[in-house]
Amino acid sequence: MTTRVLTGVTTTGIPHLGNYAGAIRPAIRASQQADVDAFFFMADYHALIKCDDPERVAISRRAIAATWLACGLDVEKVTFYRQSDIPEIPELSWMLGCVTGKGLMNRAHAYKASVDKNEAAGVEPDDGVTMGLFSYPVLMAADILMFNAHKVPVGRDQVQHLEMARDIAKSFNHLYGRGKELFVLPEVQVEEDVALLPGLDGRKMSKSYDNTIPLFEGGAKALKAAIARIVTDSKGPGESKNPDDSHLTALYKAFATPEQTQAFRQQLIDGMAWGEAKDALHQLLEAMIAPMRDRYEALMARPQDIEDLLQVGARKARAYATPFIHELKAAVGLR
Ligand code: TRP
Repeated sequence: MTTRVLTGVTTTGIPHLGNYAGAIRPAIRASQQADVDAFFFMADYHALIKCDDPERVAISRRAIAATWLACGLDVEKVTFYRQSDIPEIPELSWMLGCVTGKGLMNRAHAYKASVDKNEAAGVEPDDGVTMGLFSYPVLMAADILMFNAHKVPVGRDQVQHLEMARDIAKSFNHLYGRGKELFVLPEVQVEEDVALLPGLDGRKMSKSYDNTIPLFEGGAKALKAAIARIVTDSKGPGESKNPDDSHLTALYKAFATPEQTQAFRQQLIDGMAWGEAKDALHQLLEAMIAPMRDRYEALMARPQDIEDLLQVGARKARAYATPFIHELKAAVGLR
């Protein structure tokens, strides 16, 4: 039996090295397995919840698509599309909203965090909370249930959304299924260890900490400049260094073979200078990234090529979504 694996990326940013190691690389690897039917999409309707800058959303959609393609996503094997190209998703989102308790949404972490912040600031609990933010988990459930995904790889912070998607699917099945499971109950798949790629300062690599290493953005120069800014201790050349004490080792290890990592660690113990260690990391990363960066730049220079591929993806996705939404509408009485 093939497993349908589905995941989405909100289009508000430009992918960095942490996104590559934590999400893009494992997702592409998983998609290459023979028994996996992968659906990857850009959650551009979700982007509107977090970002009201049209230019930023537009650039991000293009950059994310080009990144996934440049990193080796095979559009023949994977269904790769934009959420906003599939009108059945917002249609389903409405139907799901009609079986979702408001109380369930009240418990969503992202919404509760906003309320807590407002209460701490002494303003109305719902100050600045849009209906988009409040019903975020309903749209996400629609993304997943539209294609009856079995497995959904996400970060830790998304686990609750998957639980909600299951609850919503159960309600719908119960109300309208007439004994038939209209929706598959999706399972969450948390990428445990890969999410731990450290940033320049040793904390988790994240845009919000401003400690990222760019993947393609800014080219070879920006990669080198970022590596130069990795924080180390003040041990000088020739002094023995503890490889386990440095996030430089963790970064190196994430992209090296075990043998390369072993040699790198030994060199640090033997007194390799931090400057040399950074050079070694730079060489390793540049060799891995350069061919992908060339593809990325070629794609970014030809937006129509990206668009054509995404339209193929949209057609593939809708070949499933269109008949299924008819079935679902019929089930609720919209025949
Ligand atoms: N909410 C996810 C995130 O912020 C993105 C997303 C939207 C998603 N829809 C999805 C992930 C459906 C998996 C499945 O990371």
